[in-house]
Order: sequence, then structure tokens, then C-alpha cells
Amino acid sequence: KEKENRVSITVIRRLPKYYRYLGELLKKGINRVSSQELSELTGFTASQIRQDLNNFGGFGQQGYGYNVEGLYYQLGKILGLDRTYNTVIVGAGNLGQAIANYKGFEDAGFKVLSLFDKNPKLIGLKIRDIEIRDVDELEDFIKENNVEIGIITTPKENAQEIADIYMKSGIKGIWNFAPADLKVDDDVVIENVHLNESLFTLSYFLKNKSDYVKN
Ligand code: NAI
Repeated sequence: KEKENRVSITVIRRLPKYYRYLGELLKKGINRVSSQELSELTGFTASQIRQDLNNFGGFGQQGYGYNVEGLYYQLGKILGLDRTYNTVIVGAGNLGQAIANYKGFEDAGFKVLSLFDKNPKLIGLKIRDIEIRDVDELEDFIKENNVEIGIITTPKENAQEIADIYMKSGIKGIWNFAPADLKVDDDVVIENVHLNESLFTLSYFLKNKSDYVKN
């Protein structure tokens, strides 16, 4: 992509929130929303919202606001949610099973085709209808099933070796839950999810109840 078309990562990180609220408005049958109303929902300022959405062309109209369905559709396209993705999970323990059990990811277009583990007691079991396979089969499975996203829910000691297998198999997107800083090739994107960080932020807010500026 050309440089002038690039959008800042902080803008990108706000888009899923816009997308979620627009989806809720759409469900309620609301067709039109102003940046002010979006501001009340999301907590971002109206001017911030207008600026963010301007990055992607003029979705809004002076005095009208935004067409909810149109904006929802456009943001979905921008986020790559207008298609489906095959995913696999390595580490079929507590967290891996919980992710596989949550149907919401599949509803959003992210299908978990299989879990993988190295524990023989788990291999062959099913979570919903999703089988747990031997991690030795991971590479072949990825290549044969057009898997695009690899999820890591192993202990942190094993996370890098799984990332390496993912990359060797051609995976370009890794969703990592292990508390490890993984090294990945330049053409691979990795999103780290650390629930602890969110929890520690909560504890800060609890401790400093009024002593911070919202947003
Ligand atoms: P768990 O012990 O229940 O599950 C880990 C699974 O990984 C086990 O079934 C184990 O057999 C498997 N495993 C280990 N090495 C493997 C390998 N080389 N190949 C295939 N499978 C392998 O652990 P739990 O509670 O599910 O946590 C998993 C990971 O997620 C840990 O790294 C933990 O720190 C992390 N975690 C992260 C959270 C977050 O917010 N990001 C929240 C909770 C856990």
C-alpha cells in the first residue's frame, strides 16, 4: 500500500468498537446516527469519530450523520469481516477449550477447524464438534485445510515453537494468548491478548477512583 493511504494503528484499534456499536444499532432497527450519538456510545469525542471515519472516505453527511447500515458494511469490509477465516488452536487446555466453546467467534466468521495438543489424554476428544488432534499433525492439517489464523494457548515455554510451526506452514496471522514475546517474520502479524494487563488496569482504576481523566 502507498504511504499516504496508511491509517494509524490507534485509529484501526478504535474501529472494532465502532463496528460493534453500529451492529447493535442495526439490530435495534436504527438507521441513522450522528457523531454525537456515537460519541455517547463509544466514549470517544464526536470530532475524534468524524476524524477517524474520514480516513476511509466521507461516510457521513453534514446535518444527517451516518447511515448505520452503510457504515457498518464499510467498516466490516475495512476490518476484513466480509469473509470467513479458518483457524486452529494449539493448546487444548482451559483457555483453548474455552475459545473453541465460544460460538461467537464462528458467528463473526472465524471458524475453529481443529484444536491441537501434545497430551495423549486429550487427543480424540471433541469440544462442541471440534476435534482435538495430535500436534504432530499440525503442519499437514494447516496446509490441507487453508488455515489462515493460528491461535496459541499453550504455556509460555512452548509458545515460540508453535509460532515457528505456524510460520513454516504458511500462517500469516497469529492470535497469541501465552504471556511470551514471540519472534515472528516480517510478513506475519501477531496480536497478543493479555487479560492480565486489562485486570491490572482495572486495579489501577479501583485504587485511583477519581484520579484519572476519562479517554
Ligand atoms: P492449560 O495447562 O490448561 O493448557 C495448556 C495446554 O497446552 C495443555 O493441554 C498442554 O498439554 C498443551 N501444550 C503444552 N505444550 C504443547 C505443545 N508443545 N504442543 C501442543 N500442546 C501443548 O493452561 P491454560 O490455563 O489453558 O493456559 C494456557 C496459556 O494461556 C498459558 O500460557 C497461560 O499463561 C495463558 N493464559 C493467558 C491468558 C490471557 O489473557 N492471555 C488468560 C489465561 C491463560
